[in-house]
Amino acid sequence: MAIERIINTQVTADDNDDDALIEVTLRPKTFADMIGQERIKTNLKLAIAAAKKREEPIDHVLLYGPPGLGKTTMASVIANEMGAQIRITSGPAIDRAADLASLLTNLQDGDILFIDEIHRLNRSVEEVLYSAMEDYAIDIMLGKGPSAKSLRLDLPKFTLIGATTRTGALAAPLRDRFGMIHRLEFYDPSEIAQIVTRSASILGSKIDKQAADTLSTRARLTPRIANRLLKRVRDYADINGDGIIDMTQTEKALKLLEVDAIGLDPADRLLLTTIIDLHDGGPVGLNTLAAILGDEATTIEDFIEPYLLQIGLLERTPRGRKVTSKAYKHLGKTDKRKQSELL
Ligand SMILES: Nc1ncnc2c1ncn2[C@@H]1O[C@H](COP(=O)(O)OP(=O)(O)O)[C@@H](O)[C@H]1O
Ligand SMILES: [Mg+2]
Repeated sequence: MAIERIINTQVTADDNDDDALIEVTLRPKTFADMIGQERIKTNLKLAIAAAKKREEPIDHVLLYGPPGLGKTTMASVIANEMGAQIRITSGPAIDRAADLASLLTNLQDGDILFIDEIHRLNRSVEEVLYSAMEDYAIDIMLGKGPSAKSLRLDLPKFTLIGATTRTGALAAPLRDRFGMIHRLEFYDPSEIAQIVTRSASILGSKIDKQAADTLSTRARLTPRIANRLLKRVRDYADINGDGIIDMTQTEKALKLLEVDAIGLDPADRLLLTTIIDLHDGGPVGLNTLAAILGDEATTIEDFIEPYLLQIGLLERTPRGRKVTSKAYKHLGKTDKRKQSELL
């Protein structure tokens, strides 16, 4: 439906599309390459230095935050800085406990296992992970029924790095087994401008400062979106100009993409206008919204809402989603709600 189509063809932070290759090229490999997230980097550098000194793997790490902020990047940087091998998988890819057991028993001492979307592991798999994380051992059941026996298998000393868009969706016993839990924050526009400039130079494109600054305010404070926009603006400049990305071309390309002055795309605006026009500004439940927009609730929650919440256009209340008067203003609509209702 509407939103999905927009998401797949435009500029959201979704992982699965043809930009995957560029994304790999642009992905920082060391902490020095990674822009921003200073607090997390400082903590991780310390943990890595200490682990190296003790010749041990680092503690299990949970990274969470909206898509496109650098969770996968951070995991591969940790592996790189540790000089460790990284195995990459995801929650939905591990169907059965036996799949996880075989993954774990194939690891070597010091390896890093990265499980993306770790909140989507199923219960039986998750339970195997508990003892693996805590004791570096798993219990396997041999046979069935009364004659079944349990066999304890020792595992190599590995590090689990989990990534999730929502810690709330993670069972407490799993969350508690991570030694470090870090929330990736949205970036400052100045950091996004640096990322855009870095990416342009890797791609061999020239971009002037004004154009980078413009992109920095349109990328929803998200590196993945910044890189996507850069790529499209670069296409535009290659075809309509001399290849040097300037402000005029950037503005024109962004207009074609229907990305507005604060980085909202049609999907964002559709969500806000739906709440305003059909629900008087809210509150309206997430599932109702999902039904009206013909979209999955999780897509709205993961890809659309975080930025709208971050910049104060949307609010989560116990009774559902509500737009702020700032959202009315941005969309050029009059907020007819009484001051008392807003509180
Ligand atoms: N701190 C950063 N500095 C520079 N580029 C970054 C940074 N974080 C992310 N990126 C870029 O954004 C892209 C998406 O990051 P990724 O780690 O895949 O996000 P996530 O796993 O959180 O969805 C990466 O390919 C990388 O090019
Ligand atoms: Mg990722």
